[in-house]
Amino acid sequence: MSWFGQRQEPGADELEALPPFQCTEQEVQRWNDEWLQYLRSEWEFQLAPYTAYPDKPPLPDSPLDLMKLSFGFGWPIALYCDREALEGRRVMEMGCGCGNLGKLIARYTESYLGTDYSTLALQIARLVSPPSCTYVHVADRAGLTPFFGRIDTVISRFFWIHQNFALARQNLEFLALFLKPGGRLYADFFWPDPKVEQAIVFTPDRPLSKAHPSATFRYSREDVERLVAGHPFRILRETVSTEMQRRYVVLERRPAP
Ligand SMILES: C[S@@+](CC[C@H](N)C(=O)[O-])C[C@H]1O[C@@H](n2cnc3c(N)ncnc32)[C@H](O)[C@@H]1O
Repeated sequence: MSWFGQRQEPGADELEALPPFQCTEQEVQRWNDEWLQYLRSEWEFQLAPYTAYPDKPPLPDSPLDLMKLSFGFGWPIALYCDREALEGRRVMEMGCGCGNLGKLIARYTESYLGTDYSTLALQIARLVSPPSCTYVHVADRAGLTPFFGRIDTVISRFFWIHQNFALARQNLEFLALFLKPGGRLYADFFWPDPKVEQAIVFTPDRPLSKAHPSATFRYSREDVERLVAGHPFRILRETVSTEMQRRYVVLERRPAP
């Protein structure tokens, strides 16, 4: 094939960021395909049911210690969240994938709602999770409406790292529908360690890439402030972890004026 045959027109790799309720078949397929790739190496952990993890270790007080919590099979939980925002709470996960987090965390929460673009991942999540978990597609308005205003805590893992600015703003608008006033949103933005060689890292203003759903977007503190501006949230705190290459940000849902 000639060099010209492989050339892409400017913008050919760009994907428009649509609000969650307007998610298209293209977005579903893009992430279903990504999950088929992930499952090649991760199927053993992603397909293990919650019953394969009988333990219920106490949740540590510190979110950085929670990240290291292990259930004896698979990886440490790698979730940044405060214990009191999980125990006995109504929790929602944005970008829940195959329920890898829900099937472990739901044993501490009152209820657990997971939502995602990928129909494939959601189907696996339903099969591996306990009955207190509910999984609803992100574009299923009728399925999600009963949860509006009823969620105490929104968590996410390996999620905000893949959201550009346009999509992240749509996500905030969407999540504001679910959180009670005073409820918390825990976001895991990417913040690279300069000593680590990086794969594909974009600034948040770059469009989404069709070819690379798992590309990461780096958010500075200013980017996060710009993101939250105009939304009913305030920044409670942030923690930068060089080890995890993350800027963890805790937002609080402000009451309606
Ligand atoms: C890297 S996976 C992480 C899955 C899960 N949080 C975990 O830790 O196992 C990212 C997930 O987010 C979903 N996703 C990405 N952007 C999304 C969006 N804007 N709305 C809903 N789901 C999204 C993808 O379909 C994928 O399942």
